[in-house]
Amino acid sequence: MKLIRNIALIKNEIKKAKKKNRKIGLVPTMGYLHDGHISLIKRAARECDYVVLSIFINPSQFGPSEDYLRYPKNIKRDLGIAKKAKVDIVFAPSAKIMYKNGHQTCVSVEKLGTCLCGIKRPAHFKGVATVVSKLFNIIEPDIAYFGQKDAQQAIIIDTMVKDLNMPIKLKILPIVREKDGLAMSSRNIYLRKADRANAIILYKSLQQAKRMIASGVKNANTIIHTIRKVIKSTPRAKIDYISIVSSKDLKPVKRLKGKILIALAVYFGKTRLIDNIIITV
Ligand code: PAJ
Repeated sequence: MKLIRNIALIKNEIKKAKKKNRKIGLVPTMGYLHDGHISLIKRAARECDYVVLSIFINPSQFGPSEDYLRYPKNIKRDLGIAKKAKVDIVFAPSAKIMYKNGHQTCVSVEKLGTCLCGIKRPAHFKGVATVVSKLFNIIEPDIAYFGQKDAQQAIIIDTMVKDLNMPIKLKILPIVREKDGLAMSSRNIYLRKADRANAIILYKSLQQAKRMIASGVKNANTIIHTIRKVIKSTPRAKIDYISIVSSKDLKPVKRLKGKILIALAVYFGKTRLIDNIIITV
């Protein structure tokens, strides 16, 4: 496994791999790897001949009062995990290398980026779409792997790929959870002990919604109301949003029909957690 920090060098490695007709899989991450990331890497290793893992804490997707400077990192540990999971190249550039002085071009998936998480994080998805398209241009993967954990991100990238005719196949893999149901996230380490225990309420409330839908409830507001009540009764949990939307275009639905996404974001102290579930009604 090689660690490369420079764009020209990785482009050269990719060129060599392409000459050998290698199928290239890309797993973009911000590092501090956990089993969610590992599930993407393992799938890429199964389906591709050449796996690139990018580790880059992308400054442009963090808001001014967000956790860019304290985002968790441990490159040594990440490299061990990557090697074990059969990564061929870890691409870990610096912010200076990715965003050279004078960088001014952005990719913005207009409407999809302004709802749900985009309301509290107005520039977030522009930063995500920009860095992912840069990674796509640098690595030129055949397949890129993303997690359902960031459902809105996955839909935005899918739309970007289609809108801009990028010759890349996307695979969106299921959410990997801790034993108690909490969705794995690099940010979970921010949680204090009591908050960590209470944070399973996100998953529990989604499971309750699933049961309500299975029992025939079709009114979105009724379900949102129940989720809200369940989460509100949890100490220190502060709801950012709970939404039920179409999983295709993220438009709110009133009466459940077809494939819907229930997405939520909840704060415990300063830590903002997200979770979601897709249900076909
Ligand atoms: P990061 O949060 O590091 O996540 C990298 C990838 O892992 C994303 O596709 C995310 O959806 C997936 N992932 C995270 N937690 C997961 C879980 N519990 N189960 C399954 N997949 C999970 O998402 C980003 O980084 C960045 O926005 C990025 C796309 C790299 C652009 O900077």
